[in-house]
Amino acid sequence: SHSIKLAILGLGTVGTGVINLINDNLDELKRRSGQDITITEVGTRRHRDDIDPNIMQSSDLMAIAASDNVDIVIEVIGGTTLAREVIMHAIKNGKHVVTANKALLAEHGNEIFAFAEEHHVHVAYEAAVAGGIPIIKVMREALAANKVEWLAGIINGTGNFIMTEMRDKGRPFADVLSEAQALGYAEADPTFDVEGIDAAHKLALLASIAFGIPLQFDKVYCEGITGITLQDVNYAEELGYRIKHLGFAVRRDGTGDDAATGIELRVHPTLIPQDALLANVNGVKNAVLVNSHPLGQTLYCGDGAGAGATASAVMADVMDLVRVLGSKDADDTSNNGHHVPHLAFIPE
Ligand code: HSE
Repeated sequence: SHSIKLAILGLGTVGTGVINLINDNLDELKRRSGQDITITEVGTRRHRDDIDPNIMQSSDLMAIAASDNVDIVIEVIGGTTLAREVIMHAIKNGKHVVTANKALLAEHGNEIFAFAEEHHVHVAYEAAVAGGIPIIKVMREALAANKVEWLAGIINGTGNFIMTEMRDKGRPFADVLSEAQALGYAEADPTFDVEGIDAAHKLALLASIAFGIPLQFDKVYCEGITGITLQDVNYAEELGYRIKHLGFAVRRDGTGDDAATGIELRVHPTLIPQDALLANVNGVKNAVLVNSHPLGQTLYCGDGAGAGATASAVMADVMDLVRVLGSKDADDTSNNGHHVPHLAFIPE
């Protein structure tokens, strides 16, 4: 069978992480999927000398999105303008898309997912929520038959890192934020992290798939951690509590006939008892606690930001698609029963 051809758009923290993951694990990825996998094109503003010369480098992202030499477009440039155009162009040209872009999907996902469905391609976004924790796959697959009652989570790694360092070492807010930027945890514009916007984006995505509702980012009540002082952190500890920035999505039955109107969405700093599980998720770790029927409570925890964690999630989606494309390749008339289900909730 022919090789599955990948394009990586953007060589920031995540794009570089994806290239490193592929370099480190390629033999394993090929052996386990039974497919040949190649990075054919990379979209970058400036030419990089440290990249395999067999990979075409270009700053023309629209051309890559339409290239005959690409099966899967990995969008890791971020932002909501160019990224949107490029993704729509890739979809129109029959490419599957893997993206880590929570801002874009939270704001324009309804339109993007519908367009993808129209063109029979997938837009996968495991990396957009909670970094390396496979929470989208959990919601879509593991909890598929459960009724989600509520979920609560630490879903911004930068913010959790800041709160942890303030508490453990008494470090000033601005100082820890700079370190989070240097470590590649923070957004290009870190106000998204500290003002709760990034968490609100992720909460909208999580709720959409958990409750089967359209994306409703505009409905999320949003408060960040910029108002939290060292004194607040220390007083909370003295009282047996801990301040965590949490996102909540809660089913409130009886608030409307439309499923979407009955879901409460909010992100804000929260006082929780020190012995609660979520109180002990520290540093860049994220955690999502889900209460669903009949399973009950389950907790998902792991690194929520950074090159390795995010690349892991990006490539999990790529591997799903590699298996589907590989089995299609083996038999043109059917996909052998291998099928990636709809990755998003698509309104009628
Ligand atoms: N800036 C984000 C965070 C990156 O800190 O959680 C992962 O989405």
